[in-house]
Amino acid sequence: MAYQTLLTEIKDGILTITINRPDKLNALNQEVISELDSVFDEVNSNDEIRGVVLTGSGSKAFVAGADISEFANFNSKQSKGMSENGHRVLNKIEATSKPVIAAVNGFALGGGCELAMACHLRIASENAKFGQPEINLGIIPGYGGTQRLPRYIGKGKAIELLLTADMIAAQDALDLGLVNYVTSQDELLPKCISLLNKIKSKSSLVVDQIIACVNSYFEKGEDGFAVEIDEFSKCMETDDFKEGTTAFLEKRAANFTGK
Ligand code: COA
Repeated sequence: MAYQTLLTEIKDGILTITINRPDKLNALNQEVISELDSVFDEVNSNDEIRGVVLTGSGSKAFVAGADISEFANFNSKQSKGMSENGHRVLNKIEATSKPVIAAVNGFALGGGCELAMACHLRIASENAKFGQPEINLGIIPGYGGTQRLPRYIGKGKAIELLLTADMIAAQDALDLGLVNYVTSQDELLPKCISLLNKIKSKSSLVVDQIIACVNSYFEKGEDGFAVEIDEFSKCMETDDFKEGTTAFLEKRAANFTGK
């Protein structure tokens, strides 16, 4: 895994991806989007990877948005292509079969907030700030912000943030349900790793199923109850189901194999 705009490191089954354009506050240009596309293909196909932390380089920004200098002169056809491609890649991240945590270490604005929302969980350091300031540029969000933000924080507050371009601090994001935890800057990555290690001890099959069930309703508009019934029935045929129930009855910790 060698990229121009991403740093990657795998340790004990956890892949840390760092978007590495600190001088541009890690703004998402098309190269970053394309490399995120590739790295998440790798995440899905590499059995060694059991979880992902996605963060930004430096202490100031997670991602300060789509790269304004790149799209400033786009016409309608180019911006449609940009938006479609961004949606495709963020949907891929959201559908990743392994847990993905956004470690939000500073500004998460515009496309940065949208990228964080495509991850399964968000943990923010105390200096993080979230917002969808696109309206100040005379545009609307193009990477899913009008759809995902209301799902996390409710329609009324989402419309307020989208229409005012106001930023919210980490603690407000926690209170609104946009982030799962707030930590000090030093504790941010350790907290992400500790959560992923906890999930790593579970059945990887079930982790995949739970993500798929939740996404089926929220992201695909399917009948999530029907999807859950189907997925539940599949569980009973796995080694992990036998191991989980046997371990409970034998009063010991389960040793799941993902089979
Ligand atoms: N696209 C392209 N470049 C960006 C960027 C973006 N979304 N966000 C920041 N940058 C660049 C700046 O142009 C600057 O580059 P320069 O040093 O070559 O001039 C560098 O990152 C540092 O940003 P700067 O604005 O000087 O930092 P700041 O601390 O004064 O302000 C922000 C930080 C985040 C408030 C400010 O950069 C900002 O408002 N960014 C745009 C946010 C936005 O509208 N995002 C949605 C885009 S769709």
